[in-house]
Amino acid sequence: MSKTAIFEINGKKFEFPLVVGTENEVAIDIKKLRAMAGGIITLDPGYKNTGSCESAITFLDGEKGILRYRGYAIEDLAEKADFLEIAYLLIFGELPTEEQLIKFSSDIKDQAHVDEDIKKIIDGFPKAAHPMGVLSSLTSALVAFNPTSVDVESDEEMYNAIVRLLGKFPVLTAWAYRKRAGLPLDYGDNSLGYVENFLKMMFKKPTEDYMLNPVVVDALDKLLILHADHEQNCSTSTVRMVGSSHAGLFVSISAGINALWGPLHGGANQAVIEMLEAIKADDGDTKKYMAKAKDKSDPFRLMGFGHRVYKNFDPRAKIIKKSADEVLTDLGVQDPILDIAKGLEEEALRDPYFVDRKLYPNVDFYSGIIYRALGIPTEMFTPMFALGRLPGWIAQWREMRLRKEPIGRPRQVYIGENLRDFKPLTKR
Ligand code: CMC
Repeated sequence: MSKTAIFEINGKKFEFPLVVGTENEVAIDIKKLRAMAGGIITLDPGYKNTGSCESAITFLDGEKGILRYRGYAIEDLAEKADFLEIAYLLIFGELPTEEQLIKFSSDIKDQAHVDEDIKKIIDGFPKAAHPMGVLSSLTSALVAFNPTSVDVESDEEMYNAIVRLLGKFPVLTAWAYRKRAGLPLDYGDNSLGYVENFLKMMFKKPTEDYMLNPVVVDALDKLLILHADHEQNCSTSTVRMVGSSHAGLFVSISAGINALWGPLHGGANQAVIEMLEAIKADDGDTKKYMAKAKDKSDPFRLMGFGHRVYKNFDPRAKIIKKSADEVLTDLGVQDPILDIAKGLEEEALRDPYFVDRKLYPNVDFYSGIIYRALGIPTEMFTPMFALGRLPGWIAQWREMRLRKEPIGRPRQVYIGENLRDFKPLTKR
């Protein structure tokens, strides 16, 4: 294959190198285009065809439905690893040895507390505040309590910042829920694993012990693994973009949380359950909602369907669908919205509108059903996604800084007014 691409613009030819990834993905390196072609740039709203970076963290083939973290198949990882191993793998590039994992886990536990003054900040939020807003604010607030800047070149300083965030984030996530639920802001129990501890921090009532259910622990562990990274999605790109100005790790992650909140991204998991509930209340009339989704004059979309990159199936959705069946059976939960979801999926997979546009269930379509069965309230679904995505965001931020990427600063094509004379107020 040729190693260059040639653009012809106004009769003049410009040659650009091709960049080939380890999975033979090919990109045209247009870094010099503007300088060579007298100011001409490329235009690609939503970055549908634009690679923003080279990355060694996650490989995704949307046509074949492949997802791998650091070369390992997601199906294998979801089955055989636990969430902290995945966090280590994503951030540092290799699966940890037993010794490394014990140290990583113990260092995170060492940080599993926050400054007591954070409680005063939480006090200031209205009880009805959405936990995503609370979580992003608290993540930013962590900087005020840990103000020293981190030298990204120092392995030790980076490691300390990473375990600090991994230790404190579950506390903040659980507290965002406990504030809403009117529960005391308690700490966890360092004798437990990461996921077990998180569950206890979320659900422990002041008057009784929290009994861990292994089915719930396993299901949550798997969900967190499936959400842990997804290359250059909206929130991850936000984290990298904010970090590219050399803003710190915590505030970059806080920005990512806000990006994740939107219903087209992580907020879809909450929106899916609300949609399925609405269909149930509407006598299970899936046809009506399918018609709304296809009607171009109606802004309604089938939530949990479609993906920018997956045009075959989302491998995470496959695993989650199977897991939803198992978890509901194991917990003895009968949830009518699981049947509605399955019916909706079947209809969509037969419908030419969805088939032609290659719209398949995505990770968010079934995840909410499991979260619900685990007793997690709907408005906490997107914070759960954030908890899972945290290692991915950290890994991507670290990679971006270590590769010394330039500040993210896209260009534009201006389509506004040309130069005009200023009109004084009296003449407007
Ligand atoms: N329901 C109905 N029509 C849809 C849907 C949907 N869920 N998704 C895409 N389409 C249509 C869209 O109207 C367009 O039709 P046309 O070609 O006639 O104009 C076509 O499919 C292509 O859609 P697009 O909006 O150009 O595709 P995109 O890559 O920009 O958007 C998406 C991807 C995920 C934002 C979109 O599919 C969507 O809004 N889905 C629903 C929200 C959702 O489930 N989001 C979670 C995504 S996965 C997890 C995550 O990223 O956090």
